[in-house]
Amino acid sequence: MAKDTPQTFYLKDYTPFGFDVESVHLTFRLTPETTRVLSKIRFAPKPDAADKTFFLHGEDLQLISAKIDGETVTPELIEGGLKCDVPSAPFTWEAEVEINPAGNTALEGLYMSNRMYCTQCEAEGFRKITYYPDRPDVMSTFTVRIEGDEPVMLSNGNPAGAGEGWAEWHDPWPKPAYLFALVAGDLVNHPGSFTTKSGKEVELNIWVRPGDEGKCAFGMEALKKSMKWDEDVYGLEYDLELFNIVAVDDFNMGAMENKGLNIFNSSCVLASPETSTDANFERIEAIIAHEYFHNWTGNRITCRDWFQLCLKEGLTVFRDAQFTADMRSEPVKRIDDVITLRARQFPEDNGPLAHPPRPEQFQEINNFYTATVYEKGAEVIGMLKRLVGDENYYKALKLYFERHDGQACTIEDWLKVFEDATGRDLQQFKLWYSQAGTPRVKVSEDYAGGTYTLTFEQSTPPTPGQPDKAPRVIPMAVGLLSPNGDEVRATEVLELTEAKQSFTFEGLASKPVPSILREFSAPVILERETTNAERAFLLAHDTDPFNRWEAGNALAKETRVAMVLDGAAPDAAYLDALEKLVRDDDQDPAFRALVLSPPSQSDIAQTLHERGYTPDPQKIYDAAETFTQTLAQQLETSLPRLYAATTVEGLYSPDAESAGKRALNGRILSLLTRLDGGDQAARQYAAADNMTQQYAALAALLKAEKGEVQSRAFFDQWQDDRLVMDKWFALQIACAAPEKTAATAKALTQHALFDMKNPNRFRAVFGALAGNHAGFHHASGEGYQLLADNLIALDKLNPQTTARMCAAFQTWKRYDAGRQSLIRAQLSRIAGTEGLSRDTNEMVTRILDA
Ligand code: BES
Ligand code: ZN
Repeated sequence: MAKDTPQTFYLKDYTPFGFDVESVHLTFRLTPETTRVLSKIRFAPKPDAADKTFFLHGEDLQLISAKIDGETVTPELIEGGLKCDVPSAPFTWEAEVEINPAGNTALEGLYMSNRMYCTQCEAEGFRKITYYPDRPDVMSTFTVRIEGDEPVMLSNGNPAGAGEGWAEWHDPWPKPAYLFALVAGDLVNHPGSFTTKSGKEVELNIWVRPGDEGKCAFGMEALKKSMKWDEDVYGLEYDLELFNIVAVDDFNMGAMENKGLNIFNSSCVLASPETSTDANFERIEAIIAHEYFHNWTGNRITCRDWFQLCLKEGLTVFRDAQFTADMRSEPVKRIDDVITLRARQFPEDNGPLAHPPRPEQFQEINNFYTATVYEKGAEVIGMLKRLVGDENYYKALKLYFERHDGQACTIEDWLKVFEDATGRDLQQFKLWYSQAGTPRVKVSEDYAGGTYTLTFEQSTPPTPGQPDKAPRVIPMAVGLLSPNGDEVRATEVLELTEAKQSFTFEGLASKPVPSILREFSAPVILERETTNAERAFLLAHDTDPFNRWEAGNALAKETRVAMVLDGAAPDAAYLDALEKLVRDDDQDPAFRALVLSPPSQSDIAQTLHERGYTPDPQKIYDAAETFTQTLAQQLETSLPRLYAATTVEGLYSPDAESAGKRALNGRILSLLTRLDGGDQAARQYAAADNMTQQYAALAALLKAEKGEVQSRAFFDQWQDDRLVMDKWFALQIACAAPEKTAATAKALTQHALFDMKNPNRFRAVFGALAGNHAGFHHASGEGYQLLADNLIALDKLNPQTTARMCAAFQTWKRYDAGRQSLIRAQLSRIAGTEGLSRDTNEMVTRILDA
């Protein structure tokens, strides 16, 4: 039974399942094309159930037989599952189904990746494995028997027996079906162990294909650090004898938190100095932490329904960000996160796909694993923590785990815990969960007789289905500086609750310079009349590192906007400020690298759009080029010294300090390449013994259209390494000039190593295409057409990855009429494709409805 009829699901329609599931026994007889799944499930009708229908989800299953209490039954097969008459007392349901893992290119349910069996069940993939109430509020213990010839056969929980051709597993913790996992194949393990704070020994393994053993050590250390951190900071201990991680090459997402058996996209766990960049190492550490942290925030306490997704994802993203801040640098992590938020979540929140962190309706839940649910979901928790304070935050979390362990919860449960722990009324705060859109906060100021007044006005533009918005609670962290640069008021969190509100500061000898929205204390857009001189002052003096970066970022934006609109030259004061900062060795290299990184071209386009202009991608590109060239010339005399001073010698180590230095070194190299035509980059490429330096050199060369030799050498060296080849595919497109971007991408889709079925490879090519702003939006429309052609082709194989990539078109209303009509034509072509998946159909329809 397929799921092709569009159907909308609503939060308000929630009804509990009419049966408890007391236990689940599964047997898998594995063969690539005809795997048999036998289920034996104990159901108990709930006496007070409003809905007594026995409906089990099921998709793409061939039902062989079904029995109730040992007697054969004939269920009614309907779209999306089956219905059956059942006894009114507890009963045993048995079913045998056949599925085809080798033919499963959607990578949802049980599928094969490189001859290895693996599963992905979140959100609704378990129904492709057997008939089951596939909803997160149905929790049960699972016992799993795997029969097959594979050397390694894994499932959730603890091992319960094994022999020739079989293995059994038992997971004692009741869980929803989306946390089920099975892996079987020719795998080798990198072992480790961890002793929990109460003295329990946990066996750890990272399972990989033979040949990848050497890329597991970093992930193993990250796992141990995560386990320790969750004990130290949240008091949370691991709860099984065993924790397995498996790396698979074909995976739609980054990784998955299946109970005791996390499955990772190999790009998110395998690491070595030769093949992984510093950015890869950092992401791997974060994602291992993220999935591990889900063991409590997601698994022990799960979601009642998928509308509550941010309950687990927002919280777990928040927790992994805290972890990364602790392991590395707090301000750098905050700046990185704000850059991502603005690059991914703001466009979503201000475009046709806008939805609240807790959506109220969806057609395809896979389309709601969004930047809003994840990143804004995490921001909302950050605001909550800021409002109640650290101590109250941890008090509330403790209560959350005590009160809700073993339950499937809602946002209401979550907020109630905070209300009960702190005595605070969170009714208005809750609007953050139900209202979409990025609030604008307009700030004005007044100074008279020693009193300084800040006035804030908040408003949120209309979003699809939400024309009017109520004022929200906005924690606004503010500090004040005196004109000589001293901080005269330390950070204070002002609570905005009204549409317009003023705050006064008394006893100030002179008009202060305000530092507003410190640490980016709320996900809002600040609007304030200010001068470049004041921005430069804050860049030099603010005690809040985030706002120092923010001042530099605002200067960069203003400069670029003026260049685009008026053909102005790069702002001299800004160039001077940058020069001073780059040469200031007292400043953290990672921070200097961030200040030296220009705002993205897409960000400039969004800024122009917000100010009422129509962005011209080519002009934005030209301004970026001119700016970088001018900066390089300004720094000319200091670049060689800076390059030498930031070059990290000796054995590669991925630690934050060395990585920060290499990040700055990479920025310097790209500037240097503008002046020396690539000589230094070519030397660096030739000498590099780690991927960070090799990649930075190749990027600089490709950008200068000088990298042909090195690109070929790179290919020869790494053609057998899938993850490194993804970099090779992506980099050529990312570095291509606007008029060559689409052609470069197109040629690469014809390359022997282009494989549409591998999501990493598809994303390498088309993520890079969509990310090359001026190239993708080139007036020829070739970029749009190429992406649409390939989305249409991929949709037949893998709807989930196709649908996610449709978001590349979400900003289309920013652009001129010509580009809009080119994009509309492509979106309509996709929408009109016969047999389009409901995933992709929902995305293009929403984007087109803008
Ligand atoms: N639970 C998700 C993975 C997932 C998402 C499975 C959607 C199925 C559908 C996992 O915990 C997750 O959030 N992974 C992120 C990375 C994380 C560091 C934010 C991912 O896969 O991108
Ligand atoms: Zn997650």
